[in-house]
Amino acid sequence: MKFDRVTGKCVDISFEGKGVVKLSYGTVFVDGLFPGEEAEIEIEYKRAGSYFGKVHRLITKSKDRIQPKCGVCTACGGCQLQQLSYPAQLEYKTKKVKDAFRRNKIENIEVFPCISAEKPYEYRNKIQVPIGYDPHGHIVSGFYRRGTHKIIPIEKCWIEDYRAGKIILELKKLMKEFHYAPYNEDTRSGLVRHCLIRTSAHYDEIMVTLVTNKDEFRGKNNFVKEWIKRCPNIKSLIQNINTRDTNVILGEKERTLYGPSFIKDSILGVDFLISSKSFFQVNPEQVEKLYRKALDFADLDKSENIFDAYCGIGTISLCAAKYVKKVTGVEIVKEAIIDAKKNAKINSIENAEFLLGDAGEVFEKLVNGGEKYSTVFVDPPRKGLDQKFIDTLLRLEPKKVVYVSCDPETLARDIKLLSEKYLINAVQPVDMFPMTFHVETVVNLILRK
Ligand SMILES: C[S@@+](CC[C@H](N)C(=O)[O-])C[C@H]1O[C@@H](n2cnc3c(N)ncnc32)[C@H](O)[C@@H]1O
Repeated sequence: MKFDRVTGKCVDISFEGKGVVKLSYGTVFVDGLFPGEEAEIEIEYKRAGSYFGKVHRLITKSKDRIQPKCGVCTACGGCQLQQLSYPAQLEYKTKKVKDAFRRNKIENIEVFPCISAEKPYEYRNKIQVPIGYDPHGHIVSGFYRRGTHKIIPIEKCWIEDYRAGKIILELKKLMKEFHYAPYNEDTRSGLVRHCLIRTSAHYDEIMVTLVTNKDEFRGKNNFVKEWIKRCPNIKSLIQNINTRDTNVILGEKERTLYGPSFIKDSILGVDFLISSKSFFQVNPEQVEKLYRKALDFADLDKSENIFDAYCGIGTISLCAAKYVKKVTGVEIVKEAIIDAKKNAKINSIENAEFLLGDAGEVFEKLVNGGEKYSTVFVDPPRKGLDQKFIDTLLRLEPKKVVYVSCDPETLARDIKLLSEKYLINAVQPVDMFPMTFHVETVVNLILRK
């Protein structure tokens, strides 16, 4: 199907950071177009009744448009807002949260202005890059062109920790020296699929996970030795084996090639050991602001037993532990619970327990068994809370609920249900993901008398 080129004016930015252009026959969502701007737009495809396109020629520019640091930010699609000034990004994120609440018919609440980052670039502590060949046969790393599996070569990504670049550079050089080919999706041949890097903000420690298409490969020991020699800040090197024909980056099997199977970082003075598959918040500066806000909202005291649902490696639980009598954390990933227990130990925290299982099921069982919690923290994945969790929460009636969310839509949906018994005391967006359309929000709920 052939689409037209159209001229239109952007009236808003969508949930996914695209410019919204209303035309007589429908809405067009346009990458890299901002409110007030007029452009000639090339419509690329239609999905679910809406059109999607890109700017062919900008006719009028927004005062908030800036020159992006990254030359491929529009093609890569990772930084949807890099061409928008930082103050305008923050305004967009505050509005995005307000809009989600309004859409869910939650009226008369104040959404505070989004908390900004002092370091809106080079903040990400976790990156994953595919490795491949360019058309000239050179080994390249980068990001997939939006919606494709074609690698856009990038030497420097402006949102990732600067230390990651050197490790990738040395990997590419070593692959050439050791004659290791990148994985080819079509022929399913080659060795190296992806390289994942996790950097610690508070310690000079880096974890590298090399995803390979084979279990054993020649010269492995020398390759590892040489990589560590050239990048001595690699504290832990993991091989992940993924031989499947899949888009999923990680395989099941892993082995540690060098150092321990974790690195250490810290949040609000509490140390955390992080292993390769555990969730850890990606922005070290902003996570401290987020957690401080969550703790302020909770206004904890030493007499309290509290619950931390979706606790990951115990980050919120262990930051809260010193203010309460006891904290119980629940998480579905086994490795994360093992990490959480280790983390309690290395910080000599004795009033935290961690349970493995589905948050809704474990919470229901505990509450049915007579356990009481005066404050409940929830930090679910994008899909939000399940009905069982919400029903149990409404039955338990803890005095305070602190909801941390990375998705304003599911957040607002859940808050609407909880507002049956809870007053929405504060809604605070936090910019955990500068340059992207994502926003984190923390909400303070107080039980109505
Ligand atoms: C957004 S992360 C939050 C983790 C932690 N609170 C933090 O700030 O680092 C969500 C966590 O929920 C876990 N999770 C996903 N589904 C779950 C479920 N049904 N029950 C318990 N935990 C779940 C994920 O493994 C992940 O660790």
